[in-house]
Amino acid sequence: MKIAVLRERREHEKRVAATPETAKKFIAKGLEVLIEAGAGSASRYSDQMYLDAGAQVISNPVELLQSADILLKVQRPLLSGEGELNELSGLKHGAAVISVLSPFNAPESLAHYADAGITALAMEFVPRITRAQSMDVLSSQSNLAGYRSVLDAAYEYGRAMPMMMTAAGTVAPARVMVLGAGVAGLQAIATARRLGAIVSATDVRPVAKEQVESLGAKFVMVDSDEMANAETSGGYAKEMSEDFKRKQAELVSATLAKQDIVICTALIPGKPAPTLISAEMVRSMRAGSVIVDLAVEQGGNCELAKPGEVVEVDGVTIVGHFNLPSRLAADASSLYARNLFAFLEPHINDETKVINFDWEDEIVAATVLARDGKIVHPQFTGGED
Ligand code: NAI
Repeated sequence: MKIAVLRERREHEKRVAATPETAKKFIAKGLEVLIEAGAGSASRYSDQMYLDAGAQVISNPVELLQSADILLKVQRPLLSGEGELNELSGLKHGAAVISVLSPFNAPESLAHYADAGITALAMEFVPRITRAQSMDVLSSQSNLAGYRSVLDAAYEYGRAMPMMMTAAGTVAPARVMVLGAGVAGLQAIATARRLGAIVSATDVRPVAKEQVESLGAKFVMVDSDEMANAETSGGYAKEMSEDFKRKQAELVSATLAKQDIVICTALIPGKPAPTLISAEMVRSMRAGSVIVDLAVEQGGNCELAKPGEVVEVDGVTIVGHFNLPSRLAADASSLYARNLFAFLEPHINDETKVINFDWEDEIVAATVLARDGKIVHPQFTGGED
């Protein structure tokens, strides 16, 4: 059985879906691993490292696709017209594509998967249950994004983060506020604390309070009964009412003017990111302050953030880098590739050396978007919201 790995061709993407380490693990399980030449180079994994791990390096991507039983990717496959290569072309009927498939951003792609007769498995739909923690790509990548966001902020900030007492006088510590205390936000808090900043954070989920405080940051919260009901059964935030949004805007507005750095990480799965910082609020901030908006690709938490750009508005720098995990490509690839291995390993038959997915398995069932020529995921067949 052949596992194929393409070079990622979408813009701003340096990661790769298998590393020499995971290639070796698949091969040890009796599978063949085929890597497109140069697939790992932007993540600092050379072709030679894959060869040393026992993988085959293939120059022609079409040949690679034709051989694949399972195609591993980081970003959803390019469809015809989207780039130099249609990454579904040549795939066998019944071949599986395992990737972050972003179906909410590209609903039209589902029909392409069904028409191609492939099995499309979306890694971001892995449920957040204990058994699946090692497969959780959202967590592994968000962790790195949260860390990197603080480094990007520190780079743009024209001052030091920690308090420094020197013979020439004292440098005041930076005040950092984190909006959204999920995986990325909590890592941003921990990183900013390690750099010596005074950190506060807010979230709509009340459980975040204890987590924020355990990292030594202050939790700032909206005074509203609605928070008791702000979390879905899956642990995600819901969209809040207009009344809550107004109260939250007042709170953020009052707090922002005293901050040096704001890290925005608030997301609502399947919906645009909530707008938490208006243009007016940006203008109320001190010159020299920095906002890093991790939600910029989902519409942004800051009204003035521009995807892929670093802009300055009245002395406030607003950072909207694309794809933060890719800015730490070697580690991001390493963790992502391990997530994929953990996802596939339980389905490898040790005797036949074949991957047979258990379609009844809770984790697999949650991730399958298309199979046997049909779109099957309840969120896209009208079965569930
Ligand atoms: P996310 O990336 O979807 O959202 C980021 C954060 O933004 C969340 O904490 C969310 O509550 C917050 N948010 C949304 N709207 C907001 C608003 N208007 N104002 C302020 N904050 C807002 O979330 P992420 O990081 O993926 O985590 C979601 C939940 O899943 C968390 O409870 C996390 O602890 C939990 N989780 C559980 C895992 C497991 O049990 N295996 C693994 C990873 C996360």
